[in-house]
Amino acid sequence: TKSIQVAIDGPASAGKSTVAKILAKKRGYIYCDTGAMYRALTLSALENKADLDSETELESLLETITISFKQKEDGQHVYLNEQDVTDEIRVSDVTNAVSKVSAYKTIREEMVNRQQKITSSNSIVMDGRDIGTVVLPNADLKIFLVASVEERAERRYKENLSKGIQTDFETLKKEIADRDHYDSNRKNSPLVQAEDAILVDTSGLTIPEVVQKIEKELKTFL
Ligand code: C5P
Repeated sequence: TKSIQVAIDGPASAGKSTVAKILAKKRGYIYCDTGAMYRALTLSALENKADLDSETELESLLETITISFKQKEDGQHVYLNEQDVTDEIRVSDVTNAVSKVSAYKTIREEMVNRQQKITSSNSIVMDGRDIGTVVLPNADLKIFLVASVEERAERRYKENLSKGIQTDFETLKKEIADRDHYDSNRKNSPLVQAEDAILVDTSGLTIPEVVQKIEKELKTFL
């Protein structure tokens, strides 16, 4: 049977990874979180005190590191070389620096190479910013997931609370809006809806409702 590629793109905190994970599990597809790869490189850069203004320095660093995923009982874990960095890549120092690191052309080229290798002949759900436009331009299904900044910040706020992290709502909102602005206005493969992507607005929808919507689209060609 033919392998299936599902590309899910959209702005920060729109729920991409949540629905991508559920969809992948339901269908038995691989799940690839490309944002985690840019985050892992950013974490490595911060740990090594690399100069974030130097594309060549970051490029050399990327050449020396491996980024991998491992499926565990409690979900997918992210590894930087042998180190489990699943939680570390979500800290705000990383979140606030990742857009800068991911804007460099050579960094993106190498990441896209690695992402395309993960895909090879596997059925996959991949989420990010440039999956439908650059990484998997021939994906069977492309979804562009959006929600208002207000709603996305609210989800993040609640998620943080449930983890025992107290955040300032307005700061969160600003960080999300800033990251969207940066990702959408960069020169190299900016965040943009692919021409053939289906727009799904998740505002006011529950997670199962969003998954159901995507599954319905998927079933039209399975
Ligand atoms: O998806 P997540 O919010 O974890 O992504 C973190 C950052 O990584 C994004 O804000 C963006 O700057 C970058 N990114 C990217 N291309 C992707 C995935 C993520 O530039 N395909």
